[in-house]
Amino acid sequence: MFYRLLIRPVLYAFSAETAHHFTMRCLALVSSLSWLCALLSRLFGTRDPSLTMKCLGLTFPSPIGLAAGLDKDAQAVPALAALGFGFVEVGTITAQGQPGNPLPRLFRLPQDRALINRMGFNNKGSEVAAARLSQLQRGRSPLGVNIGKTKLVENAQAADDYALSAARLGPYADYLVINVSSPNTPGLRDLQAIESLRPLVQRVRFELDRVRPERRVPLLLKIAPDLSDQDIDAVADLALELKLDGIIATNTTIARAGLTTDPASVEACGAGGLSGAPLKARSLAVLERLHARLGDHVVLIAAGGVETVEDVWARLCAGASLVQVYTALIYDGPTLPSRLARQLSARLRSEGIAHVDQLRRRS
Ligand code: FNR
Repeated sequence: MFYRLLIRPVLYAFSAETAHHFTMRCLALVSSLSWLCALLSRLFGTRDPSLTMKCLGLTFPSPIGLAAGLDKDAQAVPALAALGFGFVEVGTITAQGQPGNPLPRLFRLPQDRALINRMGFNNKGSEVAAARLSQLQRGRSPLGVNIGKTKLVENAQAADDYALSAARLGPYADYLVINVSSPNTPGLRDLQAIESLRPLVQRVRFELDRVRPERRVPLLLKIAPDLSDQDIDAVADLALELKLDGIIATNTTIARAGLTTDPASVEACGAGGLSGAPLKARSLAVLERLHARLGDHVVLIAAGGVETVEDVWARLCAGASLVQVYTALIYDGPTLPSRLARQLSARLRSEGIAHVDQLRRRS
């Protein structure tokens, strides 16, 4: 309420990207003050054992995490975890730093509770991120690291580029995500084709095992909602074949269906990935298809249009072990993760379900 009435209108006075950078600077500042993170964590942290999720060889204090894209340079992990996220995924980080696409590149569609972005993996690169992560005070919430291809690198050399990021960042990641699904790097999504994906995944797996021989770092793949059903099945089969630990479904969509914002305004935003409420149905459908094919053999993380406890519930019942949010955080503010966790606990209690993991088993 406080956020919606007071803070959000102020942020809306600025462009979406200016508001984003301001928010990230505040979160980075909070992250540097360990006493403040401890205080926030006492206020917002999740301590309900019925929400503790064990998967990927890790323990998550809540199944509700932050999706990649907000903290691209890993500058605010302690503050984000203190807000009550059960895990935080940083990135996308590319091997070499890069500026991303020209501005403007981030647009609000408030009427649809959606965003369109064509950021293009603006980030300082894997070396800077690795240095930062090496200094990080780690709390209870696992840290995911999401890597992507440097724009200047051709697809033919993509495996080397991803491998470099994996080697630099693998030592600090609780899990690593190969992102081949952003619509904003030309040609990136072509890497989702099985013949490109197989050598890429194998190379990154090899690199992770080389730099972390003492612990197998779980490796996940993040896919687009725009894949055909046939392609989703092919990715699922490849995940089994290559023993991928998990799949994140989904990234943003290039589709513009189901929007109530007037078409001229949507058109004026230009190209980019659409996120938030309009993505809900398609992301859920992709999750359901993956679960039908994979059962519990591969961990599924749901992302795309998750806004309410009902959305969280639906994803867990559809076979997700974990759920991620991004766009809803922009519309609902920093208390969203703790509120969703509280509501999830309450719903479990009211339905007489002892543990959140049982939702998935009922699917
Ligand atoms: C994203 N997303 C994203 N995903 C990713 O793997 N790497 C990235 O760098 C980004 N960057 C990014 C920027 C912005 C501004 C947005 C809104 C989104 C996608 C994000 O992680 C998520 O998969 C989708 O946004 C769907 O979830 P929501 O936003 O509907 O909850």
